[in-house]
Amino acid sequence: MRLTPGPARDIDLDTVDLFDLDLYTSGDPHTVWDVMRAKAPLHHQVLPDGREFWSVTRYEDVCRVLGDHREFTSERGTVVTHLGVDDVAAGKLLTSTDPPRHTQVRRAIGTNLTARAVRSWEDRIRRAIVGFLEPLLDGETFDLAEQALLLPAMVTGPLLGIPERDWAELVQLTAMVTAPSDPHFQHGSEAATLAISHHELITYVTDWVRRRRATGDNDGSLLDHLLTARAGDAPLTDEEIALDGYSILLGANVTTPHTVSGTVQALIERPEQFARAQADPSLVPNLVEEGLRWTSAACNFMRYAVNDTDIGGGTIPARGAVVAWIGSANRDEFQFPDPHVFDIARTGAKRQVAFGFGAHFCIGAPLARLTLRIFFEELLQRFTAIELAGEVEHLRSYFIAGMTHLPIVAQKRRTP
Ligand code: HEM
Repeated sequence: MRLTPGPARDIDLDTVDLFDLDLYTSGDPHTVWDVMRAKAPLHHQVLPDGREFWSVTRYEDVCRVLGDHREFTSERGTVVTHLGVDDVAAGKLLTSTDPPRHTQVRRAIGTNLTARAVRSWEDRIRRAIVGFLEPLLDGETFDLAEQALLLPAMVTGPLLGIPERDWAELVQLTAMVTAPSDPHFQHGSEAATLAISHHELITYVTDWVRRRRATGDNDGSLLDHLLTARAGDAPLTDEEIALDGYSILLGANVTTPHTVSGTVQALIERPEQFARAQADPSLVPNLVEEGLRWTSAACNFMRYAVNDTDIGGGTIPARGAVVAWIGSANRDEFQFPDPHVFDIARTGAKRQVAFGFGAHFCIGAPLARLTLRIFFEELLQRFTAIELAGEVEHLRSYFIAGMTHLPIVAQKRRTP
C-alpha cells in the first residue's frame, strides 16, 4: 500500500470499492480514507456477491469498535478475508473470544509476553538482527521486504520453540493466510489458498503439541508455556493450544516485517529524518512509534454489531459486520496534526493504534516494539545512508498493508 498519499482528490464514496485489491497494490487508499473520515464516517458497502459491511475510519470510532465487546463482538470472526463466514473457532481462539473467557485465556498466555518477560530476550534478539543485517554490509542490492519476512522467524522462532528447519515453510503459510490473493503466495484461488494454509498451520501446531505431550520435553519456550498454562481453574485444551499457537505464529510473522520495510522506505524518502535519527539515537523509540503509525501493518480488524448501534452519524444494524480501518485512524488529523507527514520526533506518536485498542490489544506488542527498537538501533549504527535500488512492489491485500519487494543498497559507516 502506498504510504505517502498523492494529492487530495474528489472521490465518489457511493462507488468506491474497499475490497478492490488494486486499490492496495497500485492505488492510493489514504486519499479514499481521508474523504471517508470527512464525509462518511460510517460507510456502507455491498459486494457483488451480496455480502455487506460497514466501515469506520475516524480514530475514536475505530477505538470504540475494537474496544467495546458488548457492542461489537469478536466471536463471529475478526479478519476481513472471512467476511460473512462465522468463525468456527469462536470462543476457542483468543482473537475470536469475548470477555470473560478472553480475559482468562489472555492472562494465562500473556505472562510470557509482558515487556518485562521479553526484556530478558534482548541479547538473543540483537544477535539475530545483527546476523540479518550482515548481507547489507557488502554493498550489494538487498531486497528488504523479501528478506524481512524471515526476520520474525529468526527473532521469535527460538522463543516460540520452533526448529529452524521449519521456518521457511511457516513463513510461506502465514503469508498465504493473510494475503491469499497475492501472486507471490497464492495457490489456486483465494479460497483454496486460505483453506490449504489454515489447515497446514493448524496441523503443524497440533502435531507439535502431540509430540511434546508424548515426549514430555519442555524447554521453557512460548509454546511449551501454553501446555502448562491454566485459564480460570483449568488447563487450556489441546484445541485451544493449537489455535492460540497458530494465532501467535500469525501475529508474529505477518506484521513486524511490513513495519520494518515501511519505516525504512519512509526514511529513504526523507534523508533528513534518517540523519536526525542517526545524530540522536535517543529518538529511536519515537521513530518506532511513528513507524508503527505510518505503516499500520494490520490495516483493519473486523467486528459484528450485537444490536442496532449508532456510530459515526449512522446506524449499524444488529449482526452487521463492521470494519475498523486502523490505517485511517492512524492518519486522523484530529489526533495527529499533519497526519501524512512522517516525523520521527512527532509528539503524541505513542497514541497510534497500530496494535489495536482495548481487550484484544496486541499481546505481542512488547516483543514487536523491542524487535523494532533493536532493528533501528543496529541499522542506524551500521549505515550512513540507504537508497532505493529498484521497483517497490506492494502486497496484494486489503488486510495487511505491506510490501513484497523493497530493493535497497546501504552505505556502510566508516570504522574509525
Ligand atoms: C508490528 C507488529 C504487530 C502489529 C502491527 C500487530 C497488530 C495487532 C492488532 C491490531 C491486534 C488486535 C486485533 C483485534 O483487535 O482483533 C493484534 C492482536 C494480536 N497480536 Fe499482534 N501485531 C504485531 C505483532 C505481534 C507479535 C510479534 C505477536 C506474537 C508474539 C502478535 C500476536 C498477536 C495476538 C496473539 C493477538 C490477539 C490478541 C487478543 O485477541 O487478545 N502480534 N495484533
